[in-house]
Amino acid sequence: MVSTVYAVTLVCMGLIVAVFYFVIVNSKKVEADYPSITKKWYGVRSKWFLFLLTLGIAVSFVSTNPFPIPDQKKDYPENDHQVVKVGAYQWYWTIAPDTVDAGKPVTFLVTGEDVNHGFGIYDENLNLVGQTQAMPGYTNKLLHTFDKPGKYKILCLEYCGLAHHAMITELTVK
Ligand code: CUA
Repeated sequence: MVSTVYAVTLVCMGLIVAVFYFVIVNSKKVEADYPSITKKWYGVRSKWFLFLLTLGIAVSFVSTNPFPIPDQKKDYPENDHQVVKVGAYQWYWTIAPDTVDAGKPVTFLVTGEDVNHGFGIYDENLNLVGQTQAMPGYTNKLLHTFDKPGKYKILCLEYCGLAHHAMITELTVK
């Protein structure tokens, strides 16, 4: 086994030496017609650059989606949206009201009452449908319109101490 490793190592080292030797021997020849090589490959390089630039712009354009969340600064008229006040505490949530209507925009006003928490809304398959930070001293606004009625789960998305994992509550969408 050791002798096999030794032989393989020797062969690889020999190959590396051969490559170095080849480069050294041929370097003088290459120098001789360097200007013509330069001319040819600079042309290729600028075409390649243009190709990559065009490709980059095209891919960015095709793969960009419309901004997925509604305007956070907009105030909806009182009668066509719902306001839910959310408080995050170690280690529970206050949510008032805890029931909203589907198909009507909801504005969540989210704040942290002690430390930083993360407010995350999950549907019944535990897919995240919306989230924002719950920070002491700030009220973050999260706008969301629920398409489907059901029981949604609220989980904490930022480690906030020992019982972080137990910060779970429910939001009913009817
Ligand atoms: Cu609250 Cu983690």
